[in-house]
Amino acid sequence: MMNLTIVGTGYVGLVTGACFAEFGYSVTCVDKDDKRLEMLKSGKCPFFEPGMDELLDKHINKTKLISFESTIKNNLDNTDIIFITVGTPTRRLEDEADLSFVYQVAEEIADSIKKYSLVVTKSTIPVGTTREVKKIISNKIDQKLFDVVSNPEFLREGSAINDFIRPDRVVIGTDNQKSENIMKELYRPLFLKETPIVATSIETSEIIKYASNSFLATKIAFINEVADLCEVVGADVQQVAHAMGIDKRIGSKFLNAGPGFGGSCFPKDVKAFASTAKNKNINLSIINAVNKSNEDRIKKITGKIVSNIKNKSTICFLGLSFKPNTDDVRDSTSMKIASNLFEKGYSVQCYDPKAMNNAKKENSNLIFFNSAYEACEGASAIIIGTEWNEFRALNFKKISKNLKEKIIFDLRNIYIPEDLKELDFKYYGTGK
Ligand code: UGA
Repeated sequence: MMNLTIVGTGYVGLVTGACFAEFGYSVTCVDKDDKRLEMLKSGKCPFFEPGMDELLDKHINKTKLISFESTIKNNLDNTDIIFITVGTPTRRLEDEADLSFVYQVAEEIADSIKKYSLVVTKSTIPVGTTREVKKIISNKIDQKLFDVVSNPEFLREGSAINDFIRPDRVVIGTDNQKSENIMKELYRPLFLKETPIVATSIETSEIIKYASNSFLATKIAFINEVADLCEVVGADVQQVAHAMGIDKRIGSKFLNAGPGFGGSCFPKDVKAFASTAKNKNINLSIINAVNKSNEDRIKKITGKIVSNIKNKSTICFLGLSFKPNTDDVRDSTSMKIASNLFEKGYSVQCYDPKAMNNAKKENSNLIFFNSAYEACEGASAIIIGTEWNEFRALNFKKISKNLKEKIIFDLRNIYIPEDLKELDFKYYGTGK
């Protein structure tokens, strides 16, 4: 059985730890945040992710395969593989990823390693970072005591466990056969399920991660601009995307038009990818355009809402997380649009199934309600910002009774316009 140490109990770290425990490995999760550790030790997940509470409870309390530590210092004697899964936020006023946490962990690893271990970077890091980690560690200890590996993660919030256990592919970037073999052994449970394992160089692996996220972001930005054209010429972007997606060369995924991409990955990663390239004198002009297009979109959508509501009083905003099935509001387009509307003088009545606590911390000027129905009371317009399932079949007859005006902005196209028009709603979708 392998013993794993995972440094950083954020999204990627915890999901990775819980899923490796599910494979039967013994996992030590390390984090400096004492409050977070206390919560985790009691079996509670610090964020909402479907299935995580159950998985943590199982492996902390029952199988006891997961344990927690506040430092790696006394922990590496028994470890085969150390994963670095700390955050790489965007540096303030710059587009680059802040790698200080990653390098700090590398220093700590160098101070603590006693026997041969693999040091694996799983955080999203620009090309060259894993080699830098290697340099930092080898400044202090014999190179025979460790190898470095890049092993990027492709999980999505909201379906993270499934994405980890049934991935489309696993990417392993190494600079020698020994570490490749250890990583292949680690992922053997997936290999048995015929998951493609792409074994490649460290640099290629690092680029695969950014190129994948940036390409998906490009698809979204592309269809969003097509949606703008559809609105003007009377076409339907959903049908356009559907017909495009049937073409196997294009594929149907990530062609849903909406208010723009958000979350802790795409906005940050497209900027960091372009910035890394710029440092090497390469102009990723498409990626730069994707970033600008997505940033401009918030203003455009806010403008569209404002210009179509005459009564400048109360509006109802449904869905605040950056996507459904998560309580994460980082870089959420819904939060940005709701906040913009507040700034423009509207009273914004909000509801989200899971993200209210995080939303309150980010903007306490919004008014929070306990249900979609309560948030709609007295509103002059309803805006659906995030496509949670519970917004897909709202009882609009009931809602209508308490509305000042029947206007709906279905930013994620979850309703059939005719159904709402029949109820006398003015309906605004995206790209319809
Ligand atoms: C994304 C990638 O999908 C994962 O593969 C990757 O591992 C992860 O980033 C990461 O780098 O950690 P995530 O940010 O959880 O995952 O969410 P996505 O499902 O990719 O959605 C990102 C944003 O794009 C959301 O705001 C979503 O609403 C938007 N989106 C997505 C659209 O507007 N249209 C679509 O068709 C798809």
